[in-house]
Amino acid sequence: SSGESGATEQGLVLLGVLGDPIKHSKSPLMHKIALQAAGIEGDFVPLHVKPDQLEDAMKGIRALHFRGVNVTIPHKVEVMKYLDEIDEGARLIGAVNTIVNDNGRLKGYNTDGIGYVRSLKEETSVELKGAKIAVLGAGGAARGVIHALLEERPESVMILNRTRDKAEQLAQEWTTEAIPVTGYANDEAKNVLATVDVLINTTSVGMSPLSDELPLETSLIPKGIIVSDLIYNPLETRLLRESREQRGCIVHGGLGMFVYQGAVAFEYFTGIAPAVDQMRAAVLRSLS
Ligand code: ATR
Repeated sequence: SSGESGATEQGLVLLGVLGDPIKHSKSPLMHKIALQAAGIEGDFVPLHVKPDQLEDAMKGIRALHFRGVNVTIPHKVEVMKYLDEIDEGARLIGAVNTIVNDNGRLKGYNTDGIGYVRSLKEETSVELKGAKIAVLGAGGAARGVIHALLEERPESVMILNRTRDKAEQLAQEWTTEAIPVTGYANDEAKNVLATVDVLINTTSVGMSPLSDELPLETSLIPKGIIVSDLIYNPLETRLLRESREQRGCIVHGGLGMFVYQGAVAFEYFTGIAPAVDQMRAAVLRSLS
């Protein structure tokens, strides 16, 4: 091939993940397993890019014939400026974590939310259609998750946040006549949570090594519901452990979200559904 194609002259599929810092990313490990399992010749490399080099990095993706890259902290919002096209979902969420290079044309997607929902559906018995869902947190992670949840037609979504204003703003942005999205402050949890079927923590509260904190008092969680946490370090947060032990809940950790956001990205890069179980096993091995 010639020009700025999305594959090298030798037909290698070059992929990477771009962030700052990047050396602790598990994405290269996970995607290399997926490439291998799919019999695709190529590589997936960590790319350390500082914020002031982001625009040049995008030119580099084209010039070096990368087929695609994942994008992580702190570039998910800023990178949108340098793309030729942005998928509608990613535009609504306001962040891109996956870029595909089609003959020099860079298109951005967001696979975080959809990856999360795929993982929740495949790893629990959850029925999201018609469910009452509570989301803890109103930041970037909540945006992606709420966008994907709404596609599943729940009955309602309640956003609970430390800062009430942010929950209300987000709720206003996503609410429709068919699916009401409402925002509350954390201290209103007692009134809001009684009827929910699914509770999802999108905040960083409970993430190692910060501390073994709870984003919410465990006694407020209805018995037997599904409780999910986006955090995967630790694999089982205190929220999940106490929900399981004290409230009889079905719990779902964040590892699946990481694996499935990568799996959905891999499909965008290659057109092939990857070996999700092998990807998960590789990440799990590297964590222990
Ligand atoms: P992310 O992109 O990971 O979602 P973010 O955009 O910084 O990160 O959002 C973090 C979310 O976690 C916010 O909803 C934040 O609450 P505020 O809006 O009040 O800042 C919430 N959060 C972070 N630390 C928290 C803490 N210690 N207690 C309660 N909520 C917290």
